[in-house]
Formats: sequence, C-alpha cells, structure tokens
Amino acid sequence: MIQSDERPIGIFDSGVGGLTVANAIRQVLPNERLIYFGDTIHLPYGDKSKETITGYSTRITRYLLEQDCKIIVVACNTASANAYETIIGEADNKASVVDVIDPVVKYVTSQNKYKRIGVIGTKSTINSGTYVSKIIAGNPHLSVTSVATPMLVPMIEEGFIFDDISNAIIRSYLSKPELDNIEALILGCTHYPIIKNQIKKFYNFQVDVIDSSLIVANALHAILEMNNLMNQPSGNQPQHRFLVSDFTEYFQAVSKLFFEEDIVLEKVNIFE
Ligand code: DGL
Repeated sequence: MIQSDERPIGIFDSGVGGLTVANAIRQVLPNERLIYFGDTIHLPYGDKSKETITGYSTRITRYLLEQDCKIIVVACNTASANAYETIIGEADNKASVVDVIDPVVKYVTSQNKYKRIGVIGTKSTINSGTYVSKIIAGNPHLSVTSVATPMLVPMIEEGFIFDDISNAIIRSYLSKPELDNIEALILGCTHYPIIKNQIKKFYNFQVDVIDSSLIVANALHAILEMNNLMNQPSGNQPQHRFLVSDFTEYFQAVSKLFFEEDIVLEKVNIFE
C-alpha cells in the first residue's frame, strides 16, 4: 500500500518574496498542504547580520515544527546563505530542511555547459560568499563572480517592475564589470523571478537566467518521494495557510504578484 503523509510543508522567507517558491511548489506538488511564514516584521533580512538572521530563522523553524511540518523549505537566499546549518540543527531529526542554494548549485554545476557564472543577491547573501564557495568546491575550473543588488528588493516591492526606473536600475547593476562575459546568471534572491524577463532582455536572451523556484520545487519533490513523505491525492484541495509576523494591506495586495493567486494573509506573532 502506498503511504500518505498529510502533514504540511513549512516554507519561510523574510517576507512575501518566498511566495515565488511556494507558487512553484504548489504547481509541482499539488496534493501538498503548505504553511508559509513571511517574517514581514523583520523585513528586509538582506542587510542584517548573520547572528540576527540566524536568530529569526531559528525561531521560525521551531514554530513550523510546532505546526507539525514534515519538511522545512528555507525560501530565502539570505537565510539559506547565513543560517542553513543552524536551521538543520534546530530541525534536528524531526524534519529535513531544503534550502534554495544547494539545489541551484547542483543544477548549474551538473549542466556542464557554463564556465563563467554570475550571481546576484542581497548584501548578506553576496557577502557570505556561500554561492561562490559552494560552486567552486568540486569545480575549481569555474569562474564565479557575484554582485550585491540591494535596490532590487525595494524596487520590486514598490511595484517598479517593467518601466524606465526598473530598467535603469537593472542595467546599472548588470553592467558591472564583475558580470562581464558570464554565460549564466543565478537569481540569488526569491524576489527576483518577478523581474526575470527584464533581466533576460537586458542580455538579449544570450545569458541563461537561472530562477531557483522550480529547481527547488523539483528538489523538494525528489526528497519527499525518496523518504516516503508524499501526500497522496484525496479529492480535496489542500488548505494552505499564509502567515505573516506583521500584517499590512500593502503585504496583502503585493502577495498576489508573487503567488499569482489571491491569498489571505494571517498575522501571528511568534516573536513575543
Ligand atoms: N527574499 C529574500 C532572499 O531571497 C530577500 C529579501 C530580504 O532582504 O529580506 O534573499
């Protein structure tokens, strides 16, 4: 008999950006129930210290485990780059943890077609050096360069997506010499899939722009399958929950941009 595990998948980010990952997960795994946590009270994580990011991530992980999540997805590059090991320790043997960096590193290095790879992300992600060191480990022949692009998150959150302002900011960052002659660009922030097309256009579609959301959803699928953790179809639509540590009408409105469907955000304060 096929086993069915009805427990939810826990997903978290600093805010609503990780909904791009949640969106890919619900498409790849339509029978799974999701509990999403956006730490909107502490947004952005991208310019905070490793200690602070680790503290928030640990608390959220504990909360998601209390909700009986069978697996934790760190849908935030900044938390993945700075707190992954600590999150694994917190989850202990209660749940596996999937980050957004390792599946992408595995994907780009297994393609065997890129020699020069660029990465963009928040300051905390880029300064951690995590992408560069993980790609280079085992692939010392590859050239990996990275650029912090801190204005992209506020730009996207403020709705500057496909206009002169966003195009000027994107052009200014991507024209940096560090990114000259790359063959692939990793979008090292879960907000960036929203501007993927503009980035592709900047490169005249000559550079592969790598969006982690689908890669992470496929990696999660493989882990659930391998560990007999899949929920089998029951005929009912799974009832997802979308939790935030601070609620505003603005977060509510912008969430649709990331999840591509109307959702209702619920405020829970887990930090008191
Ligand atoms: N979505 C987060 C990430 O993937 C960045 C947003 C923030 O700075 O909090 O890194």
